[in-house]
Amino acid sequence: MTVSGVQWLVTAEVLNGRIGEGHWIEGDRNSEGRGESAEARRPADVPAAAMTDVLTVGRAHRPTDSVDTCSTPPSLMWTQFETNPFPVYARLRRDFPLVRDESLDAWVVSRYADVRAALCDPRLAPPDNTLRTARADHTPLRTVLSAALRNHAPTNLRRTAFGAAEELAWRAAAEIRRCGSTDLVPTFCEALPVQVLTAALGLPSADAPRLRLSCNAAASKPRLACLEPHIAARRSEPGDDLLSTLCAAEIEGRPLTDQEIQRMCAVLLTAGARTTEKALALFLTNLVDHPDAQAAVAEKPDLVHAAWAESLRRDPPTHVVFRRATEAVDLPSGTIPAGATVACLPASANRDPAHFADPDHFDIRRPERDEFAASAENLAFGAGERSCLGAHLARLLGETVSALLHHLPHLRWTDGFTPTPQGLINRSTPRLRVTARP
Ligand code: HEM
Repeated sequence: MTVSGVQWLVTAEVLNGRIGEGHWIEGDRNSEGRGESAEARRPADVPAAAMTDVLTVGRAHRPTDSVDTCSTPPSLMWTQFETNPFPVYARLRRDFPLVRDESLDAWVVSRYADVRAALCDPRLAPPDNTLRTARADHTPLRTVLSAALRNHAPTNLRRTAFGAAEELAWRAAAEIRRCGSTDLVPTFCEALPVQVLTAALGLPSADAPRLRLSCNAAASKPRLACLEPHIAARRSEPGDDLLSTLCAAEIEGRPLTDQEIQRMCAVLLTAGARTTEKALALFLTNLVDHPDAQAAVAEKPDLVHAAWAESLRRDPPTHVVFRRATEAVDLPSGTIPAGATVACLPASANRDPAHFADPDHFDIRRPERDEFAASAENLAFGAGERSCLGAHLARLLGETVSALLHHLPHLRWTDGFTPTPQGLINRSTPRLRVTARP
């Protein structure tokens, strides 16, 4: 049966491995044989299998029972990849550094040198980049966002971020006292980034949960119409907030339209909040799994940056970043043909033993570098002209974990709980059931 005119919401987690519910693609839906339908309807710039991933919701991975996994190059679509991608990455890096993944319909690069080179090469363009623009339009939009974010973080936001973290930590501690445990994903990781971004935009804090939902909801559009009255207010009476900065910003001599501002806010909330939520959950997982590191950070809160950077290196939330080759491109391990889709694997690159000593080890005392700057060594924030614009804000958000550890000393898993990371493109654990010393 075919249902015509259905608008497919395609998350940019699929399109480019990052953000952004909010991509609508007009297409027909074939309710039988959804995978075939996905293939038939997929836009030219979306990998076939990635599209199938959306439409089959959680059934994208293929069982490996019928595959000779020893002689076949590993595929990101294998079930064992979903369960634990790191052994698959190790094999890709060792034996297949540049390989065509037929199931994914993309070339896969996994070594540090290849992933960095691919992310930095302008001939490898995002299929649909975070700012949702062609390359020519990307630079002015990026300049506006980058300046706006620079003006508002982290100094203005520090107090807000720590205030929010203290309150969330206090509530989590109260829940532990009352019930014996809490789930830090909803109580801390999901709540904190959107609260801080809402404050940065100058919107009422009561709007935070609604904004998070409207960015997540299947019904969301790539812009936030609920911001209209706030934009009108800032245009007539500018304040000292990110929204006012966007209202005053110009692209090529003209002010941004209301729609462009709404779209940028949606990008900030989805790119900023969603990815940071996942990264915070992985950071807390590492701290609970490594009590010595947790104790060191609790005792010396200055260590929190190094620990946060190390967690982003070892367990970045973004596992796959897609690019499309506008022409043939030579990478250290071989040539990507023109027109090909490329799946770059930052999480694999960050565990490349050719680049990081003992890469699987969570070591908060690695030689210090500023991993939140454009010169960052690890690829959690991407690299090159499309790298993350919110890295310094992310640094601040991670720093607040020291406040959480202060209120919840000796965090440990509740009996019988094991965190289980999930996700093909963006990966994190959906539950963090912990208890702490009262
Ligand atoms: C730990 C948290 C974060 C991680 C791991 C992360 C990761 C990334 C990555 C890997 C990219 C590059 C994608 C590509 O190459 O196509 C990216 C881009 C981007 N990020 Fe983040 N991000 C984080 C937090 C944030 C925050 C807090 C904001 C803003 C409030 C933000 C805003 C953006 C924007 C606007 C882009 C698009 C840049 C462009 O297309 O030029 N991110 N991020």
